[in-house]
Amino acid sequence: MPSLSTSAPGVRQGNFRFRCIACGELSSQASQDFRCAHCGDLLEITYPDWLNEKPDASRLKERWRERRLGSRPVDASGVWRFRELLPPMADEEDAITLREGNTPLYALPQCARRTGIPRLFAKHQGMNPTGSFKDTGMTVAATFARRAGFRWVACASTGNTSASMAAYAARGGMRSLVLVPEGKISWSKLSQALDYGAVTCQLRTDFDGCLQLLQEVVLRAPVYQLNSINPFRLEGQKTLALELMEQLDWNPPDHIIVPGGNLGNSSAIGKALVEMRDLGLISRLPKLSVIQAEGANALVRTLREAAGKRLISVAAETRATAIRIGHPASWKKAAHVLEATSGACEQVSEVEIAQAKAEIGAEGIGCEPASAVTLAGLKKLIQQGFVKPDQTVVLVLTGNLLKDPDFTIDFHRGELFKETGEEDAMSSLKSLRHPPIVLDATLEAVIRTLEHAEKS
Ligand code: F0G
Repeated sequence: MPSLSTSAPGVRQGNFRFRCIACGELSSQASQDFRCAHCGDLLEITYPDWLNEKPDASRLKERWRERRLGSRPVDASGVWRFRELLPPMADEEDAITLREGNTPLYALPQCARRTGIPRLFAKHQGMNPTGSFKDTGMTVAATFARRAGFRWVACASTGNTSASMAAYAARGGMRSLVLVPEGKISWSKLSQALDYGAVTCQLRTDFDGCLQLLQEVVLRAPVYQLNSINPFRLEGQKTLALELMEQLDWNPPDHIIVPGGNLGNSSAIGKALVEMRDLGLISRLPKLSVIQAEGANALVRTLREAAGKRLISVAAETRATAIRIGHPASWKKAAHVLEATSGACEQVSEVEIAQAKAEIGAEGIGCEPASAVTLAGLKKLIQQGFVKPDQTVVLVLTGNLLKDPDFTIDFHRGELFKETGEEDAMSSLKSLRHPPIVLDATLEAVIRTLEHAEKS
């Protein structure tokens, strides 16, 4: 079986190490399940060289900006242009890239007015090549998979990881195996995996069941695991935070708010913030807060009921299917970054998610339901006094609206909460709903509709 070593062919020895997040054991090798050989906990990537020779912060900033104008694929990528903070490639032409990253940071003027936070922004990771933030991690992990000689990559997914993995595998000439919960991922995401040529298994279980099975598969078959317990994924996902700081001219916001599912993304962003602070790229840490759906609130419960000491798993249920996860693999990493940045962890209801998604949509910015938990969560954090009106807040929108059109159509048609006991909520959200109107194909009918809309 190919090995996952930091000394894989051509990777300069000594540039990075795997470190266990629990016992701190350092190693230059990682097993197929990315668990510590000593205590079994998760691994992260660390750069011991930085202790002796810190990269120069102002030169890095200049170099990263210059690369944006470059035409080489590794420079045009919003991930690889930050390569000094990533595991080094032997040959820069090796990168499997779809020009990921370099996503927009939008002001949200209407949401700013509604929430009373004038400096409110959205970092839209749904503008990545396959429509979600997963691409930023996948370019790195897929590149190292191919480098280590793997022909197959695999993941369990609520949809976005599989879409992204299948695309990068296809670009890199690898085969891909996808395990998804049957009937619990959106058709858009499933269709991406199919088109990019993945062997797609719809399993009669939930995401947590798929992930558990994948752990067994990778120990039996020579496939490389591309779930977010793969620490190369998180290194790539760090670049969201680097790019965001660059867009804010290296003035950190007060708050960054992210959705929490399997908790890889919050862990990656938090790791990047701490590294940037340690390298002198930023002078202070923003507070990183994680928002979960009430029906998939394992981290919220873990922190509230077990003081972050042990994971409280839940049987997850939410229409925000991307984060329908009850046993998040990276919960310890996420708890650690919340502590390091003094962030909060909140939960929001299905109605709050639907409302927030429509409010973001009304700004001309489409996101998927899981992304909208950030705005819903912000409202709670304002009520609690944790976020203050004079502070700068960035919401991380993780996926594109087109990822889950069924949710959006059900919302606008007033059918989202049918037979859930929440039907009344739909009438309170009427002003945000814009259902399609079926008409006879006559001029009068269209003019009447226009006049009616003008009055309403
Ligand atoms: N938002 C979207 C759109 C997602 O697809 C996911 C996770 C998350 C948020 C949560 O991020 O897991 O890093 O905490 N989707 C995974 C998948 C699980 O399989 O696509 P996380």
